[in-house]
Amino acid sequence: MSTIIKNGTPVTLQGSYKADIKIDNGIITEISTDIPCEAEDVIIDANNQQIFPGGIDLHTHFDHIGVPDDFAAGSKAAIAGGITTVSCFVEGNQELGLLDNFRDWKYRRSATSYVDYTLVPVLSGKYLSEFETEAPLLSEEGVGAVKLFMAYRGAGLLTTDVNLYRTFKNAKKYNLLCNVHCENGDVIDEIVDEWVAAGHKSVINHAYTRTPGLEAEAVYRAMSIANAAGAPVRIVHVSCEDSLDLIASAQKKELPVLAETCPHYLVKDISYLDLPEFEGAKNICAPPLREKKHLAALWKGINDGVITTVSSDHAPVNFNGEYSKQLGRDVWNKIPNGCPGVEEIFSIIYHFGIVEKRISLEKFVEITSVNPAKEFGLYPKKGCIAIGSDADLVILNPSKSRIITHDKQYGKTDYSGYEGFNVTGVITHVISRGEEVVKDGIVLGKEGRGQFIRCNKSHIFAK
Ligand code: URP
Ligand code: ZN
Ligand code: ZN
Repeated sequence: MSTIIKNGTPVTLQGSYKADIKIDNGIITEISTDIPCEAEDVIIDANNQQIFPGGIDLHTHFDHIGVPDDFAAGSKAAIAGGITTVSCFVEGNQELGLLDNFRDWKYRRSATSYVDYTLVPVLSGKYLSEFETEAPLLSEEGVGAVKLFMAYRGAGLLTTDVNLYRTFKNAKKYNLLCNVHCENGDVIDEIVDEWVAAGHKSVINHAYTRTPGLEAEAVYRAMSIANAAGAPVRIVHVSCEDSLDLIASAQKKELPVLAETCPHYLVKDISYLDLPEFEGAKNICAPPLREKKHLAALWKGINDGVITTVSSDHAPVNFNGEYSKQLGRDVWNKIPNGCPGVEEIFSIIYHFGIVEKRISLEKFVEITSVNPAKEFGLYPKKGCIAIGSDADLVILNPSKSRIITHDKQYGKTDYSGYEGFNVTGVITHVISRGEEVVKDGIVLGKEGRGQFIRCNKSHIFAK
């Protein structure tokens, strides 16, 4: 028995064309016009709609302390929104060792996943020295990337320059790709203290104190240190033109630098931090939302190939409750950073990118699926519609619209980051390894069906 998707238009890097797709045991086995069907075959009618490779979101924070989405809720939200593979950061637990903590995530905490996933350990505190000896063991467990922070000293996350250098060098030996959060955390902390002491209280001060220059300085430093160590680097959540210019210039010199941005930096400007009645707090993340000119620069960066992927940075923090945005009611610097987004990323990039004519269909596929798969060594198992690849597919009606609302979301955050956004392009089916896991907005797939996917070597190591 096969599954055959009839009457669809697969969208690939090489263009779109009408074809049927045959799937056996979760793998694409044939792509051609008018594939004959046997009586026992399962037929999915794509109804002349577009078929995309499933979205791959390389930046999520499921099951992190204080967030409402555990792995089950976050991954259910992902699959409802057309994301068939996620990469989730493994939050440090300094009571366990680096490897033991990773194994706890791999074998227990992620076991409820609805989607296929990779796991990326965050290196901080004692993990930085443990990484010196445990890096090869992480690699054997299927890890392909790690994450480091140049900010958040107070939370114990900030990595010094010398530790960055040591980690880049060691990571390179085992083909582990370093993802770096680039902001000059110490200077930002100093400025925040000054501004709080001067009596500034409102939400928008978050953006005024975390300047584009202090992001760009850290981006330059991370790229320089990676270069000195002879290692590639992936800069996560790039938010501004200042960073983009430096990344473009490094890439022009053929340095192995990858860059990610997020939907909120592409479609929301700084004014979203200034919404009345504390609503701006829902948009607090780091780096912060920027002035309008940066949004246009980021779209240009995507089209120029400087930005290689778009990820959600799904770090949902509730608006109300014990651990919530309300912690900063009196003064903005107490508002926890992070916003939901894994459920909406596919729709938001489709609407603001393709429908509003900022990017082509091919570019959409490149930044949401092909490049993420290549960057984390998942390609061509994931990231393409091709014979031999996993049948991870999204069928989308390009002419239908919907209004995004919290009421209809699967994620457990008590608001939607895109409440009231009217988006064209409605997902009708999501197929994961050949299984119809979403139909007309209803998740049919079962909790725990997702598989841990081992990362191979990122394509950037070949540069
Ligand atoms: O504000 C953000 N981005 N929160 C999530 C943690 C991070 O920095 O990625
Ligand atoms: Zn970050
Ligand atoms: Zn993040």
